[in-house]
Amino acid sequence: MEIIRTVGELRARLAREPDVCCVPTMGNIHDGHLSLVKIAVQTAPVALTTIFVNRLQFGQGEDFERYPRTFEEDCAKLEAAGNAIVFNPDEQQMYSEPQAFFVDPPKVAKKLEGRFRPGHFRGVCTVVLKLFNTVQPQSAVFGKKDYQQLAIIRHMVDQLALPIRIIPAETVRADDGLALSSRNRYLSKQERKEAPRLREAILQIRDAISDGDRKFVAMEYAAGALLSRNGWNVDYVVVRTQRGLKRPSPDDSDLVILGAATLGSTRLIDNLEVVAP
Ligand code: PAF
Repeated sequence: MEIIRTVGELRARLAREPDVCCVPTMGNIHDGHLSLVKIAVQTAPVALTTIFVNRLQFGQGEDFERYPRTFEEDCAKLEAAGNAIVFNPDEQQMYSEPQAFFVDPPKVAKKLEGRFRPGHFRGVCTVVLKLFNTVQPQSAVFGKKDYQQLAIIRHMVDQLALPIRIIPAETVRADDGLALSSRNRYLSKQERKEAPRLREAILQIRDAISDGDRKFVAMEYAAGALLSRNGWNVDYVVVRTQRGLKRPSPDDSDLVILGAATLGSTRLIDNLEVVAP
């Protein structure tokens, strides 16, 4: 597996590659990332994973400094998964001078995650566009675990006419249902035992919807209360449309349940698509 750290070297290396599938990550590779890499390996002759902890998408008081950086272990896992190239730029490569031009995403970026992490998607879109311009892949894989991120990136690629196919990947879960995330490692032993309750709250809503219930606000309230009773600090547990992440109207059947809540000092997110009968 090749490790490339500069934009110049990467461009030279990829000049002779007609089909590259990119997996953008911030490192701390776990089985969730590896499932994306597996898709990339099956999609194109060259699977390229980027590892860059992007300061622009972290707000004040967020975990940019303590975000786990585990480059050696990451490379071993990526190599075993068949990844061909790791692009690992440093701050100097990505932001040689303070970033002055940004991608300003639409209103949906201010909802849900955007409400609790102002500027987050502006930082995500800016770095993803920059990575896309650097790598110029034919396709890229993003996990559904970050559902709103995936939706916004798809919209950006579409509206800015980027010639890149975005491939969504299902969320990978631990045996007890907890969605894999780099932030799970912040959980204490006791919190780790409690953490699957976020999914439980989402499943409670999924079951009600599958039974034909459409009283979404009542369901959201009950799911939030379940978490609060068990010591979570709830940001949201809501039902939205899969397209556009809007409040569902009576005709909408393709829905997604999204949740975000903090346990101790660790903020977790999860979601589940559901088709209402
Ligand atoms: O999902 C992530 O890990 C990040 O938001 C991404 C897409 C790599 C951009 O920094």
